[in-house]
Amino acid sequence: MAGLVAALGACSAMVHAADENRSLGSIAKESWGKTSDGESVDLYTLTNERGEDTRVTNYGAIVVALTAPDRDGKFADVVLGYDHLDDYLKSSPYFGAVVGRYGNRIAAGRFTLDGKTYQLATNNAPGGVPCHLHGGNKGFDKVVWDAKGEMKDGAVGIRFHRVSPDGEEGYPGNLDITMHYWLTDQNEFRIEYAATTDRATPVNVTHHSYYNLGGHDSGTILDHELMIAADHITPVDKGLIPTGAFTPVAGTPFDFTSPTVIGSRVNADDTQLEYGLGYDHNFVLSRWDGKLRLAATVYDPQSGRQMEVLTTEPAIQFYCGNFLDGSNVGKGGHAYAYRTAIVLETQHYPDSPNHPDFPSTILRPGEEYRHTCVYRFSAR
Ligand code: GLA
Repeated sequence: MAGLVAALGACSAMVHAADENRSLGSIAKESWGKTSDGESVDLYTLTNERGEDTRVTNYGAIVVALTAPDRDGKFADVVLGYDHLDDYLKSSPYFGAVVGRYGNRIAAGRFTLDGKTYQLATNNAPGGVPCHLHGGNKGFDKVVWDAKGEMKDGAVGIRFHRVSPDGEEGYPGNLDITMHYWLTDQNEFRIEYAATTDRATPVNVTHHSYYNLGGHDSGTILDHELMIAADHITPVDKGLIPTGAFTPVAGTPFDFTSPTVIGSRVNADDTQLEYGLGYDHNFVLSRWDGKLRLAATVYDPQSGRQMEVLTTEPAIQFYCGNFLDGSNVGKGGHAYAYRTAIVLETQHYPDSPNHPDFPSTILRPGEEYRHTCVYRFSAR
């Protein structure tokens, strides 16, 4: 850690242009343009002691790039994204962003809390059925966050903060939310969320990086192997809203309890796969106790890169880029085609505010929302 200690001493001096003199254990900040409202946006480059780095912007707290070494030590950028802020402003399927106030779907955008019914935006309509998705028209992915570089022993990071005002996108209460993104010297990307409110509100914040362990421009992820520590999914209707049932994965294409090639069953004749156009489902993590533990592992046999996902949350949405169709032209001019990424969103179940038997997502004054998620990279 000697390098990091030295870097800590020079913390303010390290805020320099991203590619200039970038050193291990450092944070660099550069100006990245403006939103259509004229708000200034910055881009931060975090580099850990092993040379792994990530680029993060305070617009949508988006992870723009994240590198990880393969089995020969060769780094590749393993997240889909864009080179320029303007592309994110124009259209992004939540590439690398934080999603909230409620990540995932709420049926008809409506819920009742303490006797009052709230109507949120219906900004999505899978199967022709309108619903609320990922916080609405201008969710947490489309706002500028206060950001500050942070360092601690073994990690470099960014602290994001924002108060989502009462009524924003139809949600009740001022939600004060802080997120720490850490890039650790163990090649982990760690996210810590904390939030408080002054009125009862649903909260379900998650992260939406699209991973491709072969590299963001390496094509399909159908050859990746996936393990999810989940014995059940919450099956959905054609609008991708949970029916309320819990379906055991055993004997179905949803059984990832041992590592399985994603493409081996994605086209199976199965109503759930038909509704999701492939995998786009909430996996209920087995024996959830709120402690941080391994929830999923992804492995790319070509490069040898592996990503473990740890979370304190009760579930993971596994989505494999079924809506990607080549129309998002990303970094280096690469068009992201069908099923070229895997998204593993640690979260509560979709539509929980309308399912009293699901673990509660309601945060009340005096309580604190906490959620930790770790994406840990290695190679074999
Ligand atoms: C989530 C959803 C998908 C899709 C993507 C964004 O992961 O589960 O259905 O809406 O976001 O394209």
